[in-house]
Amino acid sequence: MIIEQTTLLRGKKILFGVSGSIAAFKAAGWVSSLTKEEAQVTVVMTAAATRFVTPLTFAALSGNEVQSDIFAGGMAHIALPAAVDAVLIAPATAQTVARLAYGFADDLLSAAVLACSSPVLICPAMNSKMLTHPATQRNLATLREFGYTIVEPESGRLACGEEGAGRLAAWDTVRETLLGLLATQDMAEQQVLITAGPTREPLDPARFLSNRSSGKMGYALARTAKRRGAAVTLISGPVALEPPPGVAVIHVETALEMAEAVSRSAAAASIVVKAAAVADFRAAAFSAHKIKKTVTEPLLELAANPDILASLGRNRRPDQLLIGFAAESDSHEAEGRRKLLAKKADLIVVNDILGKNTGFEADTNQVTLITLETAETLELLSKEETADRIWDKAITLLHSKRMKHGTEQV
Ligand code: CTP
Repeated sequence: MIIEQTTLLRGKKILFGVSGSIAAFKAAGWVSSLTKEEAQVTVVMTAAATRFVTPLTFAALSGNEVQSDIFAGGMAHIALPAAVDAVLIAPATAQTVARLAYGFADDLLSAAVLACSSPVLICPAMNSKMLTHPATQRNLATLREFGYTIVEPESGRLACGEEGAGRLAAWDTVRETLLGLLATQDMAEQQVLITAGPTREPLDPARFLSNRSSGKMGYALARTAKRRGAAVTLISGPVALEPPPGVAVIHVETALEMAEAVSRSAAAASIVVKAAAVADFRAAAFSAHKIKKTVTEPLLELAANPDILASLGRNRRPDQLLIGFAAESDSHEAEGRRKLLAKKADLIVVNDILGKNTGFEADTNQVTLITLETAETLELLSKEETADRIWDKAITLLHSKRMKHGTEQV
């Protein structure tokens, strides 16, 4: 069964403005990505942008005619932004930033932005001296005052050969910011702490004990919470995933390091999610030298790791929401309920680790959400969709918890 990875941008109408920077070639890739995600993209190019990449390229990638002439007729500057979900301008040159800050309407893109009441996302790209010039900084500040969102350019090697800030932001960062602008900000008050991935318990300089956790579920939780407006800290064991943009990531290796990092961050969190597959045992003694196969009886002595979730359950504030996971191969609901009670969690998300499309490494998941009173099995979904459903449940639980403890705000 093929499950859609993400349907978040499907049908979203994006007005994509391109201005005249060499980074315009990157915008072509972004338009292609948006179109692959089934967004409806209309590209507006400034005259300078058409000198870098031809309108034909953007027309072919978006499947729509590219607009650049304000005098082409049909009141394009009013019609184009009328029904869009968002305007995305990338790359935004110093000239375009200035034009927008001063409210000029002398080309199609700037006039369309003036006539637009949807969210505007601006991705500047320019030489670092141009970027840091007070004129550009003041113009960017003005755009922020208008309520536009600026995705800060990155630092690195620029097309002009200089090193510095001014490189167009990465698509992942821009995409996440766009998804945040399109999402309901129902977690804006939340400080979320998430653990993800496996832990790795060293035996000797060459070997370790670990498990098959990929971290995908925890990272999906981090991305989706961030999109919904939460401040997110992610404590991650070793995984092969890109850090989610806008999320504070703390990298750890062992269960003891994870326990330490969690204990430092947990007090500030309104919601803690333990999605990590913590190794229950570590080597009783780390061998500083490689264990040789000549050892006659290879005995591995283990010591128990602390149960981080159980310790959070013992020490948490009453208004803090605690969510655990349970990786099960049998008796899913009974085991989930047992862990819910034993670890004093508010919600346990049970994973079937034997399912073909669920659990470790898969991009999809089918989980059962277990609370004291309820057990609800979700359908097979992408991990991001599963994450969103977990947050929906968490917000409901947090509401009833706050009502019970007499505080209204969630
Ligand atoms: N957990 C934890 N610290 C541990 C072990 C587990 O915080 N040392 C957390 C996990 O992050 C997860 C939950 O406890 O949220 C359940 O983990 P799981 O591995 O399913 O259960 P265990 O408690 O290890 O029990 P068992 O191995 O018997 O299934």
